[in-house]
Amino acid sequence: MTTFPKDFLWGGAVAAHQLEGAWQAEGKGVSLADVMTAGSNQTPRKITAGVQAGENYPNHTGIDFYHHYKEDIKLFAELGLKCFRTSIAWTRIFPQGDEAKPNEAGLKFYDDLFAELLKYDIQPVVTLSHFEMPYHLVTEYGGWRNRKLIDFFTKFARVVFQRYRQQVKYWMTFNEINNQAQLDDWFLFTNSGLQVQPGEDAAELMYQAGHYELVASALAVQIGHQINPDFQIGGMFAMGPSYPASPDPRDVMKAERTMQANYWFTDVQCKGKYPAWLKQYWNRQNYQLDITLEDEDVLKAGTVDYIGFSYYASHVVQATDAEADDFMTQASDTQVTNPTLQASAWGWLIDPVGLRYALNWFTDRYDLPLFIVENGLGAVDKFAKGQIHDPYRIAYLRDHIQQMALAIAVDGVNLIGYTPWGIIDLVSAGTGEMSKRYGVIYVDKDDQGQGTLKRWKKDSFTWFQHVIATNGQDLT
Ligand code: BG6
Repeated sequence: MTTFPKDFLWGGAVAAHQLEGAWQAEGKGVSLADVMTAGSNQTPRKITAGVQAGENYPNHTGIDFYHHYKEDIKLFAELGLKCFRTSIAWTRIFPQGDEAKPNEAGLKFYDDLFAELLKYDIQPVVTLSHFEMPYHLVTEYGGWRNRKLIDFFTKFARVVFQRYRQQVKYWMTFNEINNQAQLDDWFLFTNSGLQVQPGEDAAELMYQAGHYELVASALAVQIGHQINPDFQIGGMFAMGPSYPASPDPRDVMKAERTMQANYWFTDVQCKGKYPAWLKQYWNRQNYQLDITLEDEDVLKAGTVDYIGFSYYASHVVQATDAEADDFMTQASDTQVTNPTLQASAWGWLIDPVGLRYALNWFTDRYDLPLFIVENGLGAVDKFAKGQIHDPYRIAYLRDHIQQMALAIAVDGVNLIGYTPWGIIDLVSAGTGEMSKRYGVIYVDKDDQGQGTLKRWKKDSFTWFQHVIATNGQDLT
């Protein structure tokens, strides 16, 4: 029996700012990612006020995919990829974000990139906004706190939908739009370009920015479908299931509310409206959000075609003694360890069955096609004489693919594709490190930015090549 559908989209995922480099090439503007320094597991990345001399900004050079893409795509073809998920760097197209006209050189780069992929029958899968909005929109407009961003974003979307209407079918609007629900400074910045000022309520700000993004996304879906009715335009969510710490019903309620509080973005993008619990919450908090009746119509008319999501880890939550009736204590303050699971070197819990759980959860709630557009293991690889033995990565991917197969064969979920994250080593979004490697292709570059940039196949390359060749039938 063949488990995976015959046109299953086996692929690999990246994001422009994490691999392209060439941060100023041919008119590109400064993005959010260009003002983030290198960090580590212990030291958070800094967000600097503009690009400053003497700082190390790893995204400025990435792995120089901008100049190596032909060679890399050749390797992707050898691997057998059916699709390649990347993003369009908004700042290549609109360097500042608010220009009247797009930058032709930036558009041309993606013409060439997509043509190169299609030459090998590799479908581009494209995210419009992946943690890389123009920095100018932050300094001049305050990021997504400002309604004007809707116009800037939809203009960008229209231009690229129009330009690549024959090359790209699968799109996603905002990468991991729900990360910001965690309310930490990092995600507020990377998702929405928000920098919370003294006296501001971070949550209220996040709900407002999130609303403008959801309106922008819904408008983009409508624009895209007008330009090409065959477009498949998805949302993209960070999925990390929250399990209750115990059978205590209060823990169960806590886990339920944590899921609701993380996936209301998904509710809006899939169902076209805000969930009742959230509206109650806003009323009780006395938030004054700018949500018009017209916006509500837009949300209804711009629901997504599929659910794209990343899956790396699961979490366990426990109700605190002081939990209010709404169970809205910040989930990160209520997380406890899961003694049944091992963690990666960066502390991410490895939970393949959680992926099956997630596939079922999304299906029950939204009944839409699902696309796993990120999944993988960040690990330190040892390079020795041109060889990289990475059995830990093979085991991770195998265990997750096995659960995908069960979700399809036993649970009947409609899973259309799988693009493991960082198919080629790139700059970590969270830490800015190169040494947190996900790829099946190794890139010779270290955390200090030194290296030849030469590409090497890891053991996982040959393994994944065989998985794709057998359409997921043989995972040995
Ligand atoms: C997702 C992002 O959150 O996780 C990627 O969409 C990111 O951009 C990936 O790289 C892995 O996270 P990290 O911090 O290990 O790079």
